[in-house]
Amino acid sequence: MLFLHGVDFTHETAATPLFENVDLALAAGWTGVVGANGAGKTTLLRLAVAELSPRAGTIQVPGTAVYCPQRTDHQPTRLSELVSATDADARRTCGRLGVGADWPGRWETLSHGERKRAQIAVALWQAPDVLAIDEPTNHLDSEARDWLAQALHTYAGIGLLVSHDRELLDELCGQCLFLDPPSVVLRPGGYTDAARQAEGERRAAAREHRQAKSVRKKLEHEAHRRRAEASRADRKRSKRGIAPRDHDAKDKIDRARATGKDAVAGKLLRQIDGRLQQAREREAQKSIRREHELGIWLPGSRSQRNVLVRAPAGKLPLSAGRWLHYPALAILPTDRIALTGPNGAGKSTLVRHLIGRVNVPAEHVTYVPQEIDIAATQEIIARTRALPRDKLGHMMMIVSRLNSRPERLLESDLPSPGELRKMLLALEITQEPHLIVMDEPTNHMDLPSIECLERALADCPCAMLLVSHDRRFLEKLTDKEWRLARGDAQHRGYQLHEH
Ligand SMILES: Nc1ncnc2c1ncn2[C@@H]1O[C@H](COP(=O)(O)OP(=O)(O)OP(=O)(O)O)[C@@H](O)[C@H]1O
Ligand SMILES: [Mg+2]
Repeated sequence: MLFLHGVDFTHETAATPLFENVDLALAAGWTGVVGANGAGKTTLLRLAVAELSPRAGTIQVPGTAVYCPQRTDHQPTRLSELVSATDADARRTCGRLGVGADWPGRWETLSHGERKRAQIAVALWQAPDVLAIDEPTNHLDSEARDWLAQALHTYAGIGLLVSHDRELLDELCGQCLFLDPPSVVLRPGGYTDAARQAEGERRAAAREHRQAKSVRKKLEHEAHRRRAEASRADRKRSKRGIAPRDHDAKDKIDRARATGKDAVAGKLLRQIDGRLQQAREREAQKSIRREHELGIWLPGSRSQRNVLVRAPAGKLPLSAGRWLHYPALAILPTDRIALTGPNGAGKSTLVRHLIGRVNVPAEHVTYVPQEIDIAATQEIIARTRALPRDKLGHMMMIVSRLNSRPERLLESDLPSPGELRKMLLALEITQEPHLIVMDEPTNHMDLPSIECLERALADCPCAMLLVSHDRRFLEKLTDKEWRLARGDAQHRGYQLHEH
């Protein structure tokens, strides 16, 4: 089993802890790890394979452990070894994931889908006792995703899976770990069942909180009433203001004091105060997390131009003598186009080519690339830190409305990939796009923020070119498809077909 005992962790530049006193015992089988972008999923996986050390507490890893990373920047250290290995496992894994013998020599030119395939192949081939796999379906085409699901099914060790692919979590996981710093809660079932349980708990907590609040309010009201009554009685019994010769009234007051009426009232009041204090404590215990309002709006508008992008028929070089062949292409102001095709077919290559041929001022084009590399990350952080206070506030409001915590983000020297995407979206949203081009926008984003983005894009009237393997996302937002498929004998590589 994999054990975590009393684990605390805080990133170096962060002021607030990510994990506090986490205890976990994980047996063989898959555990899903879910939570908002920036909730600490990657950090937890890296702790579980001993790539990071906790500030306090212990982590016991049984045998070998491998982390299959979320980011695709670096070549896996054992990729060369894998492509030249002759054992049956290596050959089968490379064959099924299409890992080429030349890949270690040209990592920089591989598509992100190909890099992801290579990372998965290296991780699975090592068959570790603990496999921590971070967003493995990002960038993958449907064929590779299906193979991956099967391969993960046959894995017999202790698996930790971070994914926003609900189906994959449901298919594989017997339990899910919900991260919401600093809380870590393990719930039984795949994502759907575990999320249903979490929702039930949230509703029950909200109900108990409402009840505790209503009891506290009633007691406050009662205490207030009794105090007012007591002070009225006090005034009545005060001998001040009574004429010196009104002996009857003075006598009555003395008698009330002697029979202890005041003492009883005081005791009751003290009791109510005691109960009120308890009710306040109970309400504080039942406190629920403040729900942040979600949802963004894209200020796009329809261009008055006839054509936003025009590219004559041509071909673009892919690798190893293969080409992407395409007919004459145009994007009109009302077009909503899906660009689809298998890994390595040239989707991002075509997008970059088209971005260079845009016939709209740069400030009216929103382009969100497939991945944000380290250099671009530093640039986004610098751009954000240089923003005037009001603009920064607006940007952080958008991040919050996309389900991430701005306070954590501002402390971070290395925002998580999901946080980065949200920062980039927030920076771009201040402009008024006539054309939105997004390359795999749903990768890395948590589920609530995908839904926010989907709604915002659906309501935005400008032209769109969207690359995605998420069929549901494309069906909702586009009405035209540019599909890249294997080329015929004359067209070695891939060919674009319009549908
Ligand atoms: N090296 C670092 N220094 C400072 N803060 C960091 C560092 N790495 C991560 N963080 C911060 O810690 C938090 C958790 O990061 P982590 O990468 O674990 O999130 P995640 O849940 O995997 O997010 P995502 O869904 O986007 O992948 C984030 O707020 C992030 O900005
Ligand atoms: Mg992560």
